[in-house]
This record gives sequence, C-alpha cells and structure tokens, in this order.
Amino acid sequence: MPASGCFAIEYQEALDLRRLGALVIKSVSPQSRAGNPTPRVAETHAGMLNSIGIPSQGLDHYRREILAAYTCFETPVVVSISAETTNEFAAACAEVSLPEVAVIEANISCPNLEADGMAFAMSPDTTFRAVSAIRAATRHPLWVKLTPNASNIAAVAQAAELAGADAIVMGNTVLGMAIDARTRKPKLGNVMGGLSGPAIKPIALRLVHQCFRAVRIPVIGCGGISSAEDAVEFMLAGATAVQVGTASFIDPGVMEKIIAGLDDYCRDMGLQSIAEVTGQVELDPYLSDRWLRFAQQSG
Ligand SMILES: Cc1cc2nc3c(=O)[nH]c(=O)nc-3n(C[C@H](O)[C@H](O)[C@H](O)COP(=O)(O)O)c2cc1C
Repeated sequence: MPASGCFAIEYQEALDLRRLGALVIKSVSPQSRAGNPTPRVAETHAGMLNSIGIPSQGLDHYRREILAAYTCFETPVVVSISAETTNEFAAACAEVSLPEVAVIEANISCPNLEADGMAFAMSPDTTFRAVSAIRAATRHPLWVKLTPNASNIAAVAQAAELAGADAIVMGNTVLGMAIDARTRKPKLGNVMGGLSGPAIKPIALRLVHQCFRAVRIPVIGCGGISSAEDAVEFMLAGATAVQVGTASFIDPGVMEKIIAGLDDYCRDMGLQSIAEVTGQVELDPYLSDRWLRFAQQSG
C-alpha cells in the first residue's frame, strides 16, 4: 500500500488502484493550517528531505473534497490523522470513523503541544495516553504510526499495543537537515525535516524487527522500500504488510511492479502466499538469545 503523503488520487493514471492493499491518504489535521515554510523538499544521496507539515483546510473540507475521491474504488481506504493534543486526536479520529473508511492510521509522529512539541511517539507515556484516548473514541481498526526518532522503540510499540492499537506502522521519516554550502542557508524553510527513501531502509528494517519482537499485533513496514526484494526483507524482519513512499515519486507505477515481483518471489521459492515469510529471518539461536538479552537491557 502507499505511505501517507506520498500518494494522491492522480496515481490512478499510473496504477490499477484495485491491485493495492489499501489507499492510504495524506494525513489530515482537524485545525486549518498552511503547512511549513518553503522550500519544503530537498534531494539527498539515496533519498529526500521533506518538511511539508500537514497543510489542512479542516475535517469538513477533507470529508467533502478529499475523502470522497478515494472511497469510490473497491480498495479499502485508510485515513491518516495528525493532531496537536491528545483530546484533539481522539475527537478527530471519532469524526472520521465513517462507514466508508476501513482503517484509521494515527500518525503520532507529529508534534504534541502538551509536551513542548515533542512527537507523541517519542515516549511510551505520551504514546499510551494518545492511543488510549483514540481507542476510546473509535471502534474502527486503529493503526498507529511510530517515529524512527524514538530511542526505545520496543517500549513505544508495547505502549501502543497495550493502549489498544490493532497494528503498528513502522515508520515515519528520520529527522535530518541539509545546508547549501554556498549560501550557508538551510535547504529547507523549516531548517530540519524528515529523511526518506533508500537512505533510511536499514534503519526502518531494524525498527520493524524490534517491533516484531516486542508486540503481538501486526507490524506494517515502511521506509526506503522500492522493490519486491526490499518488501520481502521487511516481511522476513516481521512485517505483515508494507507501505511505499518516496519510491513512487521516482516511478509512479512502482507499487504494481512490487506486487508482481512478490508473485514471482512466491513462485520461485515455492510459497503459497507471501504471508508465509513474515518474521522468518533466520537467526543463529545463540546470537538470537544474546541479542534478545541485549535488547531487553537497552529497552
Ligand atoms: C513528501 C512526503 C510527505 C509525507 N507526508 C506524510 C504524512 O502526511 N503523514 C505521515 O504519516 N507520513 C508522511 N510522510 C512519511 C511517509 O509516509 C513514510 O513514512 C516515509 O516517507 C518513509 O517511507 P519511504 O522511505 O518509503 O518514503 C511523508 C513523506 C514524504 C516524503
């Protein structure tokens, strides 16, 4: 499925949208706002930085003008929500819990105004509080999107699970910065932004594996995936499904190629279904025990 913010309905010109697992829409916030100062994107080696923010014209406009364009396909629609406070998150998720919406993805990688702007998913406590409030506000399936910038990802994922998340999406962009050596100015209007694309793949893969070991709910992998082989690696690490973001900017048809590549992989490896590979990375049992002890000590 596409990653939030890296997909728009115009992709129907490059892809058969019915082949995707879901249509994940760009995050919306309940408050109207303009988004971040420009420039909002900068290219990097093997990736890009973005500081788009979450431009929004409010939830009424979203329901009328944006959501309606996605719900006329057979493919399930995932609405991604961002908000600035726990109560705002819960109220927004309740408001978009509509029959035509299959899943709510709570993008808790966004700044929490009640914690000095630190993202909700940076700490297990703020994660637990936000996800508990959202869980109480909606009966829709709830995916919780985490940030790779958290230091103790296992504890954050466990807090989300304990608070009632149905799946973890791991994860969002890695905080980065770029400077123009000649003008001495930051390349992004917002100074810092989120790094995405192949540059972050090893980080995201590691985080998916840590989440997989920490929780029982499904983990959806995201970060730097641009081929079927990348997708298989994420599934071996523990992902049940994957999202593709930046790669679609290079090739808008890449998701269909990845799906076809997964079929080829299943045929070559004699698998009935790609689901058979989830979590099947082969670890030496001795290393695995040592790794687990180490992981428990550090989180
Ligand atoms: C231009 C751009 C806009 C994004 N907007 C959002 C967003 O609105 N909500 C969200 O949860 N993630 C957003 N993301 C993060 C992506 O969904 C994804 O988590 C991240 O880019 C890592 O995946 P990738 O390396 O495949 O791009 C955005 C990423 C980019 C590059």
